[in-house]
Amino acid sequence: MRRLSTEEINHIVSSVDIVDVVSNYVSLTPKGKNFFGVCPFHNDNHPSMSVSREKQIYTCFSCGATGTVVNFIEDFEHVSFIEALKIVADHAGISLDIGKVDKKLSNTNNPLYEIYDIASKFYSNNINTSFGKEAKDYLKERNIDEAIIKEFGIGLALKKHDMLLTLLTNKKFDMNLLMKSGLIGRNDYGYLDSYYNRIMFPLWDINGRVVGFSGRIFHGEEGSKYINSKESEIFKKGELLYNYHRAKDEARREDKIIIMEGFMDVIRANTIGIKNVIAMMGTAVTKEQATLIRRMAKEVILCFDGDRAGAKATLSCSEELLKLNVIPKIVRLEENLDPDEYISKYGKERFLGKLNNPMNVMDFKLSYLKQEKDLSSNQDVAKYVNDVLLELTKIDDEVLRELTLKKISEESNLEVEFLKSQLQEKQAPPKKIDMPKVVPQRKLNKYDKAQMYLLYYMLQNEEIIRLYNQKITFMPNEKYRNLAFHISYYYKTNGNINIASLMNECNENKDLLKTIGEIEQLRLKEEYTIEEIEDYLNTIKEYNIKNGQAELSQKLKNERDLSEKVKIAEEMIALKVRRENV
Ligand code: CTP
Ligand code: MN
Repeated sequence: MRRLSTEEINHIVSSVDIVDVVSNYVSLTPKGKNFFGVCPFHNDNHPSMSVSREKQIYTCFSCGATGTVVNFIEDFEHVSFIEALKIVADHAGISLDIGKVDKKLSNTNNPLYEIYDIASKFYSNNINTSFGKEAKDYLKERNIDEAIIKEFGIGLALKKHDMLLTLLTNKKFDMNLLMKSGLIGRNDYGYLDSYYNRIMFPLWDINGRVVGFSGRIFHGEEGSKYINSKESEIFKKGELLYNYHRAKDEARREDKIIIMEGFMDVIRANTIGIKNVIAMMGTAVTKEQATLIRRMAKEVILCFDGDRAGAKATLSCSEELLKLNVIPKIVRLEENLDPDEYISKYGKERFLGKLNNPMNVMDFKLSYLKQEKDLSSNQDVAKYVNDVLLELTKIDDEVLRELTLKKISEESNLEVEFLKSQLQEKQAPPKKIDMPKVVPQRKLNKYDKAQMYLLYYMLQNEEIIRLYNQKITFMPNEKYRNLAFHISYYYKTNGNINIASLMNECNENKDLLKTIGEIEQLRLKEEYTIEEIEDYLNTIKEYNIKNGQAELSQKLKNERDLSEKVKIAEEMIALKVRRENV
C-alpha cells in the first residue's frame, strides 16, 4: 500500500465539493449558509447533520460525527482512509493507484474468521470433486452454473461426519472454539461435523468476510431445509444482510437496491444480471439492517415472496423503513411465487418488467388492508378508511398522501376534505423536519468552555492562533492541548488555517476528530470580539497559574534543602503577581 503526501491528499480533496459528494449518499437541503440532512452515523430521522461548503466539512449536531469528505466516505462505506480517498478521487475524475489495500477490519484477529475461511475453502473444494456431482446437478437444475457457484462460494459438506473436524483439529484449533463456531458439534460418542451432506452457502458480514454458513438439503432427506450456523461474536443475523458487500457498489451506481427474502432468490437474480440485490434471510428487518439499507440507495424495492407470509413480511419491513423516512416501493409476485420461481417460470424479461414497475407503498397497504373486507358494508368501509388514515400518518410524503386520500375518497364515497380533517385529527403535531434537532447542550465549566471556544475560533482564524501562541501555549486538558498543538503546527507550516485540510493531515488521529466534533457541535456564532477571546485566554492563564501554585506548594512541602525552599517561595510569589495581573 502506498502512502500519499499531504499535497496529493489535498489536491484530491479540493477537487470535489463535499456538498456534491455527500448528496450522493444523503439528501441535503440548503438552509442558510449550510446544507442539512439526516445523519447516517446514528439512528435518527431529523436532519441533524450540517454540511458546510465553506469549511468543506460535515458535522452532526446530534452525535458529534465530523470530518472531511474523506472521513464521511470512510465511515459510510466502512473503508480505510486510503480507500475512501480513492473513492473521492474517482468522483473528481482523478486516477489514483492505491495499490493493494489492507482492509480496515475491526476485530480482525478473532480466530473464528480463520475457521470459517478454512471451512469455506474446504466446502468449495468438495463440490468440485467427484463427490460433488449430485450437488452440482441439483444446482444446475436450479439454473446455477459454475460461475455463480464460484462467485457465491457455494460448497458442499460431504456424507462423512469428521472431515472438517479432522482438518481443523490438525490445525490445532481449540475444541471450545470449534464448538463456538457452530461448525463442530458433539453427540454421545464425541465430536463431529455439524453439517452432513448439505450444500453450503457462506454468509458474509458487511465487510465481506465469511462469518457463518447456511446448509441446504438437496435430495429430499429429512430435516430442516436450511440449517444456519449459530450466532457468534462475529455472526449476528440481525446485523447483516445477505450479499450486502457485493451489492452495494451496483446499488449506489443505480441508486436502487432490491430486497428479497431468501438468499436463493438473490443468487438467482444474479444469474440474470441483477446485482443490486440483498436478502433478509427469513428474519424480520431490524433497525440496524434498516439503517444499512437506507445507506445503500435512495430507491428501495421490496420484492418478497408472493405468498401471504411474503405480504406480511413486506408490510413489517416497510414499517421499519418508514420509521427511518425511507419510503420503499413494492413488487408483488403472482401465484405465490418467490423471485426464484418467478424467474424460472416467466423468464428474465417479465421479471425485470415487474421490478421496473413497482407499486408505491400506500397502494400496497391499501390492497393489504382491503383483503377480507367487504366494501359494500358500511362497517367494513369505516374500518378500512380508518386503517388507511392511520397508515397515512406514518408517511412523510405529501404527494403520496394526496393521491391516497383521493383513492380512498373514491372507494368510500367520502369527501376528500372530510378525510383530510379526519387525518389531521389522527396526526401527531407536525414534526418540524426542516429544523435540526436541538441537542441539549452539555453544561460546560468555565475552563472547558474557555478552551473549547478558543479552539473553535482558532480553527478558523489565524489571528486567534497568533494570540494563543503569544499569550499562552498550554491548555490544561490534554485533548484540547493536543488539538491546539496541531492547529499551531499547521499554522506554522502553512501560514494559514484550513480545518478540512488539517483534518486530512491528522487522518490517523481519530481522537483529534472527536475533539473537533465536540467543539463544532457547540454551534458557536462565527463572529467574535477580541474582548471575548481575551477573556478565554485569561481564564486559561488563571487556571494554569493556579495549577502551577498548587504544584509549587506541594514541592515546597517536600523540599528539605533550605536554599531550594527559598527559591520555590520566590517562584510562588512571582506567580502570585502574575495571577493578580491577569
Ligand atoms: N430460512 C431458514 N431456515 C429455513 C427456511 C428458511 O433459515 N428452514 C431462511 C433462509 O435464509 C432463506 C429464507 O429464510 O433464504 C427464505 O426462506 P424460503 O423462502 O423458504 O427459502 P427459498 O429462498 O425459497 O429457498 P429454496 O428456493 O431453496 O427453497
Ligand atoms: Mn425458493
